[in-house]
Amino acid sequence: MTSAMNEPRPAGVLIGQGLDRLDGPLKVTGAAPYPSDFDLPGMAYASLVRSTIASGRISRIDRGPAEAAPGVLAVVTHENAPKLGRGPKTILGAAPPPPLRDDRILHHGQFVAVVVAETAEQAAEAARLVQPEYDAADPVLDLADPRAKVRDDPWHVDMRRGNLDAGLAAADVTFQATYTTPENTNNPLGLFATVAAWEGDTLTVHDSTQWPYNTRGALARSFGVPERGVRVLAPFVGGGFGSGLRAWPHVILAALAARIIERPVKLVLTRPQMFTAVGHRPNTVQNVRLGATRDGRLLAIEHTSDSPVAMEDDNLEPITLGTSTAYACPNLITRDRQIRLNVPCPGSMRAPGEAQGNFALESALDELSYDLGMDPVRLRLVNESTVHPQTGLPWSSRAMRECYLQGAERFGWSLRSPEPRSMRDGDWLVGYGMAGASFLHYQAKCQARASIDRDGTAYVRSAGTDIGTGTYTVMTQLAAETLGLRTDRVRLGLGDTDLPMAPQAGGSGLTGALGGAVHAACVRLVHDFLRLVRNDPESPLRGCDLEDITLHDGRIQRTDDPTRGETYAGILARHGLEELTADGDSSPPRGDMIALVGSMVTSRLGRFGRAAVRATRAVAPAGACGAKFVEVRVDPDLGLLRVTRIVSVIDGGRILNEKTARSQITGAVVGGIGMAMFEETITDAGTGRIANATFGDYLIAVNADIPEMDVHFVGEPDPANPIGTKGVGEIGLVGIAPAIANAVYHATGRRVRSLPITIDRLL
Ligand code: MOS
Repeated sequence: MTSAMNEPRPAGVLIGQGLDRLDGPLKVTGAAPYPSDFDLPGMAYASLVRSTIASGRISRIDRGPAEAAPGVLAVVTHENAPKLGRGPKTILGAAPPPPLRDDRILHHGQFVAVVVAETAEQAAEAARLVQPEYDAADPVLDLADPRAKVRDDPWHVDMRRGNLDAGLAAADVTFQATYTTPENTNNPLGLFATVAAWEGDTLTVHDSTQWPYNTRGALARSFGVPERGVRVLAPFVGGGFGSGLRAWPHVILAALAARIIERPVKLVLTRPQMFTAVGHRPNTVQNVRLGATRDGRLLAIEHTSDSPVAMEDDNLEPITLGTSTAYACPNLITRDRQIRLNVPCPGSMRAPGEAQGNFALESALDELSYDLGMDPVRLRLVNESTVHPQTGLPWSSRAMRECYLQGAERFGWSLRSPEPRSMRDGDWLVGYGMAGASFLHYQAKCQARASIDRDGTAYVRSAGTDIGTGTYTVMTQLAAETLGLRTDRVRLGLGDTDLPMAPQAGGSGLTGALGGAVHAACVRLVHDFLRLVRNDPESPLRGCDLEDITLHDGRIQRTDDPTRGETYAGILARHGLEELTADGDSSPPRGDMIALVGSMVTSRLGRFGRAAVRATRAVAPAGACGAKFVEVRVDPDLGLLRVTRIVSVIDGGRILNEKTARSQITGAVVGGIGMAMFEETITDAGTGRIANATFGDYLIAVNADIPEMDVHFVGEPDPANPIGTKGVGEIGLVGIAPAIANAVYHATGRRVRSLPITIDRLL
């Protein structure tokens, strides 16, 4: 918390408690309104037509058959669509290219028409009647295709320090290997939906978005209308995992359909469309070179990556950036290249970039540990940095050593016999593997508003969304504690652009940003109550300042004499007020790493840059970090792989709610198991069509694949953030895939450098 001087003192301690999700009953009874649940009077339904080639042009597109089909209200193609603007550039890069611009096809599955009809079935049926003819070109689909355009250092975050060649030359042991990760698709359970309704130039949209303000900006620019006339609502979203961060073309098309037929329109994507329309984790080919002394000190790290991006897109997904801050190492190069392919736009997928980059780095370190004959935990401890390795600034807080040590203890790492293939249980080979994990610090500006009403209840609100992570719950705890109210006396409003500005529920950054704003608004509100009574001769609180009071159950009381005080409701009543309202905001700490990426100014930290950073900043804000320990069992005859135990020890800064934070970690661990063992979006090499775009063919981890998951939090409130959190949305996934691959090597002696680790790779 901020300095105690300016803090009201709450009597109860709600923060940290594992309070059940406040929105749980709404969700399990079906009462939580998801975007697809909204039905408006006169509403029509849209269905989208997708390209069946990956590159080329539409030579002919006949609207006639669809227009003649029953119930059809409009068929819109590039030939009759108005010209749409492109949404705003964000920290994630340019907005995806606007839909229905012209006859060009940039990827298989690109939307080429929207059909609107009286019912969803009529729209879907008529959409099948739109069958464009194409002049197909040979698509560029492979990272190694010589025709592919290469973007070097696309976000200006390639890092360099020291002298790599000198570091490698001085090393006693060097290691080099190539690692690959496949494309993964986010696949939130809730199909993305948009309900759009216009009144003149005023637009209201219910949308599956993680970032209502971004969707609002994109819609306003697309249609050339003022932002204040566009309202985007997303109070509940059926999961996102990053797929709701960008303002996707289907959202624009739903609003376009509604504008054309002058009626509200609902659009729900199909599961196959979710594979081409709302982003994915791009595949990577990565190369890692390491050099170390005999006693394991890293002298050189080189980490390079190639990953695809769609045509005319520049999705931000730094794969190797995390490596630059992972370990103390004087000589380092990290380098990312983006390769332009005829693929759908990628986007963030839980721990974007870090999920893939950490797999390569932590696999390589494991390989190095065997070359050195050194315990993998010790190798990481030896190289743990007490300062931010790129700037030399001390970390705001980083309990990485505790993560390793407590993780090893909880897991029973000391029982591991170092030799590969040396541990057995009957027919099963047993393997122990581990990995370190860090996530960059990210926080964006945020605003919130808090009111207390004549009945003594509070209403706290902001535009940020709860994508299932527990934001309603933890913000209610934070507001209730700060205001000295019971949680059932606090109502929280989220996911609505009519509420104060909030950044995306992404980058593990919303809890810190929104928490800071909610906290600031609540502190200011208490302050405003005190201002009311400061000179009020009737008040027992006369003359009190924040440091003189304690808050308890809706009552402000003097700390030196708790019998003297009065309730919020009583103060409002005596002053004839219906409510008091206060605003609060929060800003990122200086040195926020992704803010640096965004500004693209100080990111190439040469000698002078580093000196300048040191001169202006005291600490480097540290993101969450952790250590992952995994036990696997492998049946070498059948190629069966089972993950049997996982221990995650996480420094997430201050944990606002032990239960929802734990849920974030366990959910992400499941995603990590999926990444390691199952998930792979397969693009047909000839046509660019995604060949497994259903839940029947795209495998995800299911209950039977998930072992006991031990989650333990360490660390302290992080001083870089006023409420001390680091954000735990993504750190749970980072490190799981390499820890599993490392355990597989320990069990079998077989190193798998390409995910997913399927049966064929173990036989
Ligand atoms: Mo997260 S992938 O930034 O929603």
